[in-house]
Amino acid sequence: MKKITLPFILLFVAFSGFSQGNKVTQAAGKFDGLAMTPPMGWNSWNTFETNIDEKLVKETADIMVASGMAAAGYNYIVLDDGWMTKERDANGNLVPDPIKFPNGMKALVEYVHSKGLKFGLYNCAGTQTCAGYPGTRGFEYQDARFYASLDIDYLKYDWCNTAGITAPEAYKTMSNALKTAGRPIVFSLCEWGDNQPWEWAKPMGNLWRISGDIYPCFDCEFHHEEGNWSSWGFMKIAEMRKDIRKYSGPDHWNDFDMMEVGDGMTNTEDKTHFSMWCMLASPLIAGNDFRKMSPETLAILTNENLIAVNQDKLGIQGFKLTVEDGVEVWVKPLSDGAWAITFLNRTELPKKVNFDWKKNPIKDADFGFEADFNKTIFKIKDLWKNKDAGTTKKNLTADIASHDVITLKLIP
Ligand code: GLA
Repeated sequence: MKKITLPFILLFVAFSGFSQGNKVTQAAGKFDGLAMTPPMGWNSWNTFETNIDEKLVKETADIMVASGMAAAGYNYIVLDDGWMTKERDANGNLVPDPIKFPNGMKALVEYVHSKGLKFGLYNCAGTQTCAGYPGTRGFEYQDARFYASLDIDYLKYDWCNTAGITAPEAYKTMSNALKTAGRPIVFSLCEWGDNQPWEWAKPMGNLWRISGDIYPCFDCEFHHEEGNWSSWGFMKIAEMRKDIRKYSGPDHWNDFDMMEVGDGMTNTEDKTHFSMWCMLASPLIAGNDFRKMSPETLAILTNENLIAVNQDKLGIQGFKLTVEDGVEVWVKPLSDGAWAITFLNRTELPKKVNFDWKKNPIKDADFGFEADFNKTIFKIKDLWKNKDAGTTKKNLTADIASHDVITLKLIP
């Protein structure tokens, strides 16, 4: 072996960076691989807004396990806005509200972890959260260290009170701060699609909201006079962002918002809402009060056939294939050459469907999948009825009630 002399060693050390004790290494990029299928869980906002506390979280975690939700795949419990005091402490630290969380946040995180579940918190890129609690602007690294010290697993990061900052920079800063803090935390961007996060957020986050807030109705716009903004029925959101599907996929999901299943719509509408969130490969974050959950709501949220569509490993957001007489047909390519297909009656009247497979070949222009029913016959499984339903040799004929769906799996 050739002898390496001292000057060579010194030169090597200098160039390799060993000697650069003052070099700042800025971690860049999200924690990869934390959300290879759409995240599933529960978030406090839709039902409770800022009326949250330790008891609610513990009871929700208990029910998540005891009801079978956890076994069905739901594992994140996320506390949305309202978990802090209105001011930071003298050192600039966020303070979990001691009245709402008398045993502290760390103990609550430990409780949720002890149930085999994961825990998430919320903050905002601006100076204040949307509900007026301390925002993270200027405290990104400090807050990220705090979250890591609490052992949380998920951060939803909102976009209120952000005058003067730009979204790609603000989200990148927080993403880097989380990475630097070192604990793998799913980073959920919530800037409502205002700055097209699907175009720039993939290296920073695992999911991003693509719309304003959801509202528990089928197809309405709910206008908030105060503040002059709108929340949206679930079909409005589905429609609004059906064309950005190519940006969604494993570890970088278009987030159609927390679900309103069990929050006041009819069971039929809830079933349709859930079907659509599965077809769209949206994160499945329940937003209802588990302590008052009806058996029907639980059955919808835990339908394993539908969840399998949502969690399919290809991770492709479905698209609208056709509309006829108010009945929409949505399709989603699945692994192993299968497809999910949903017939959705968007009208106020019952409809009859007579669908000729052979006249309706499927072409997925964004991802290149195709199904030609003249060439291939598919077996059909009705996913809500959990029954075989013939093949694509014959037309599909069915009645669909107003706002209802038929969701099928086509197996080649
Ligand atoms: C925004 C978000 C909601 C919720 C509230 C909390 O409106 O879009 O999902 O987090 O803020 O204030």
